[in-house]
Amino acid sequence: MQLHVANHPLIDHKMTLLRDERTESPVFRSLVAELVTLLTYEATRDLRVEDVPVTTPVRQMVGKHVVHPLPIAVPIIRAGLGMLDGFLQLMPYCEVGFVGIRRNEETFQPETYAKRLPDNVSDRQCFVLDPMLATGGSLAATVEFLIEGGATEITAICLVAAPEGVELMKERFPQDNVRVITAALDEGLNEVGYIVPGLGDAGDRLYGSTD
Ligand code: PRP
Ligand code: URA
Repeated sequence: MQLHVANHPLIDHKMTLLRDERTESPVFRSLVAELVTLLTYEATRDLRVEDVPVTTPVRQMVGKHVVHPLPIAVPIIRAGLGMLDGFLQLMPYCEVGFVGIRRNEETFQPETYAKRLPDNVSDRQCFVLDPMLATGGSLAATVEFLIEGGATEITAICLVAAPEGVELMKERFPQDNVRVITAALDEGLNEVGYIVPGLGDAGDRLYGSTD
């Protein structure tokens, strides 16, 4: 697994607003969308494109065009759904699959309750969306689903990652074709599995508590 930590003042500025406990859901959601759009620019640096002829008002030239079959975006429900609009803003040329995973609050193990992926994921670039990489269990399970389906190039876009989750991803996916792009790499996890300093429960901050 290759890790890329965005190192950009604008991303740091928006992340600070996002982390602030006083930031309420409407602003939190807008910030997530803006951050994801910025991270998507970096995450799509190796997007596969092909030559296509185009006629400008001046003359013909060869331009570029996203290849078919189209890439796939996979938000991990719930919190990953908050990243989908920001991703599609820059990457409307993709299909969307969904994975629903909730972390067991006692064992921290991921529990999958929904999975709907395009039939054919083999040889398509896949972009997994989840704001929090904590123990890494939820992201690793999603990457496994995609690899089982034949995916060979998987990029996860996260907002906050913990070193523990990064380590798990590196152990489970030593190959270079799995990448994680994150806005921030934090200190670690606390005793209840939250990222420190983190931003709290991303799903709750986006959509409110379901408890
Ligand atoms: C959060 C987050 C990740 C997961 C990260 O989801 O959105 O999916 O925790 O934790 P992990 O790296 O230890 O697996 P949560 O389980 O809280 O569900 P939610 O998105 O429905 O709120
Ligand atoms: N999931 C969250 O939403 N936040 C954390 O800090 C860890 C897991």
